[in-house]
Amino acid sequence: MKILANDGISQNGISALVEAGFDVITTTVAQEQLVDYINENEIKGILVRSATQVRKDIIDNCPSLKLIGRGGVGMDNIDVAYAKEKGLHVINTPAASSESVAELVFAHLFGGVRFLYDANRNMPLEGDSNFKKLKKSYAKGVELRGKTLGVIGFGRIGQATAKIAIGIGMNVIFHDPFLDSATIKVPFFDGQSVSFDFDSRPKEEVLKEANFITVHVPAQKEYVIGKREFDIMKDGVGIVNAARGGVIDEVALIEALESGKIAFAGLDTFESEPTPEIKILMHSKISLTPHIGAATAEAQDRIGLELANQIIALLK
Ligand SMILES: NC(=O)c1ccc[n+]([C@@H]2O[C@H](COP(=O)([O-])OP(=O)(O)OC[C@H]3O[C@@H](n4cnc5c(N)ncnc54)[C@H](O)[C@@H]3O)[C@@H](O)[C@H]2O)c1
Repeated sequence: MKILANDGISQNGISALVEAGFDVITTTVAQEQLVDYINENEIKGILVRSATQVRKDIIDNCPSLKLIGRGGVGMDNIDVAYAKEKGLHVINTPAASSESVAELVFAHLFGGVRFLYDANRNMPLEGDSNFKKLKKSYAKGVELRGKTLGVIGFGRIGQATAKIAIGIGMNVIFHDPFLDSATIKVPFFDGQSVSFDFDSRPKEEVLKEANFITVHVPAQKEYVIGKREFDIMKDGVGIVNAARGGVIDEVALIEALESGKIAFAGLDTFESEPTPEIKILMHSKISLTPHIGAATAEAQDRIGLELANQIIALLK
């Protein structure tokens, strides 16, 4: 049985599939040639990340196709409901990248409290001519330890973020309208672990009490953080969005950064992705990454293996 991994798959995913008797093809076939390629090669499963689109045309015109797999979470590039209606299996790997996204949140937070996002812009320009001036301008750092992290959306990634926060001595509070309470088990290097219980708190309380805020909600119609929410926050908070563009109102964010209400923001996702607003890209108080939350070797390995195991269970 042939599986086409059109946007790539990790080596351990390939090995697991090959061991189970599948033939894994890792050629990237151009979108407009996919229908012909799938038919000519009698492809049983197509695996994609975010680049390849699996729409009605493929679902309707490729009778050999039994499974569509998305390495990652969001399935915006697949006509999921239609595929399921036509009897195809549609799978994804929602849990595989949570720890990687959570670590990226902390990369933004640790960088934020010591101005790394700005120092990395200015050291190449003035590090040799104005060292003392730069040293002074980045002299008012703070520690994360002992501060309160407010997590909006306490699903897989929100909870993975809380684990790191607890591990570095932060206080964690969360708001999630669909979850009353959660137990977070923090594992340590030697096999010990400690569990902590948390109750969901009203959104206003979390916004009012947190020193740092991170959002981990799915894409929604309304902004989750806009002017009203910024106004409730403490002065000088740091905020991170590694969830989805459009969760934070970027116009209100710029205003809050300029008024000093927000000390810094860390953004991995953008309202107008893949062409973020120039005002966001050029802002000196924003730490920027181009939607790389899940882009670690470990997450890609887990994604590959999780896909392989699901394919073996469904198609063998
Ligand atoms: N940056 C990246 O590369 C990257 C990678 C993977 C996932 N993500 C994104 O991260 C987000 C979270 O993913 P997850 O796996 O933790 O999802 P999840 O479904 O496990 O958790 C989402 C949580 O948000 C809660 N929620 C929904 N609406 C809410 C609201 N208005 N206010 C507060 N909480 C709300 C839900 O009850 C749920 O508990 C998603 O948007 C996902 O697309 C980003």
